Amino acid sequence: MACGTCHVILDEQSYSRAGEPSREENSVMDTVFNVTPTSRLSCQIVVADSLDNIRVKLLDPWA
Ligand code: FES
Repeated sequence: MACGTCHVILDEQSYSRAGEPSREENSVMDTVFNVTPTSRLSCQIVVADSLDNIRVKLLDPWA
């Protein structure tokens, strides 16, 4: 959790199901572009059955 290249945007329901980002994750998020209220670092989302069918938007690194 240092580069921010795994930045993704979840829809609101998916964001609430993924749990809150840590303070450290928020610190890294301060260094990336196009952050939204439902942005997460995907490397910090703990995969669990409860996350089935979450919606995750990948960002275009060239946009
Ligand atoms: S912050 Fe580098 S892979 Fe997630």
